[in-house]
Amino acid sequence: EEGLHPPQYPWSSKGWLDSFDHASIRRGYQVYREVCAACHSLDRIAWRNLVGVSHTADELKAFAEEFEYTDGPNDEGEMFQRPGKLSDYLPPPYPNEEAARASNAGALPPDLSLIVKARHGNADYIFSLLTGYVDPPAGVEIREGMNYNPYFPGGAISMPRVIFDGLVEYDDGTSATTAQMAKDVTTFLSWAAEPEHDDRKKTGLKAVILFSALTAISLDSWPPPLKDWV
Ligand code: HEM
Repeated sequence: EEGLHPPQYPWSSKGWLDSFDHASIRRGYQVYREVCAACHSLDRIAWRNLVGVSHTADELKAFAEEFEYTDGPNDEGEMFQRPGKLSDYLPPPYPNEEAARASNAGALPPDLSLIVKARHGNADYIFSLLTGYVDPPAGVEIREGMNYNPYFPGGAISMPRVIFDGLVEYDDGTSATTAQMAKDVTTFLSWAAEPEHDDRKKTGLKAVILFSALTAISLDSWPPPLKDWV
């Protein structure tokens, strides 16, 4: 059964030349870190990918160092623990799928790296899902431990509502309403699914300018003077 069709929102990155809203990516990282990261991994993103996107290199070095990573083997052939560095990937909340399911009543919180592209409705769906928890309509029974969300296909989702007004405190002073946090984390996850997005559009623009210039130059001598034709 299909979920409720999400409305279309005016995401900043939609246009053919538009880039992501980087202040929103920064706030969205904070929501991911403080809320979603308790259950969801983001396997494809390394700390260094966020440099100049959401935070400075120094900020991200400090974030990475808060986590311990297993490295090795060293000269003695042993594995060892060390603080994270920029080249490390964001750490997962659980060591494996079994542990993830055990903590979530059997359900598996999916890795969020590509989730925006993997789900029908993309960013509109993620935003709607996060803000769409309501009481089940009369006559709809939801199993113990499940939650009703009309945007989720089937309506019964094991993830509870996780975003509430004022849950985080943004350092840029933005008011952390439910909708604001859902927008920011969705923007962050849209970037994560397409980290090359802004570069791609910049390259596209350069290509358009270059080809326009070449066309203009070539038109300058086009059509060739009649004497060259005959
Ligand atoms: C599923 C996002 C926080 C547990 C999902 C899905 C998304 C998502 C997009 C996939 C839905 C689908 O399959 O269409 C988020 C975001 C979060 C967040 C953005 C933070 C704002 C959490 C937290 C928990 C959690 C804190 C654990 C307490 C789960 C579980 C599922 C899930 C168990 C699987 C649901 C099912 O298949 O029934 N989440 N999540 N999530 N999430 Fe989260």
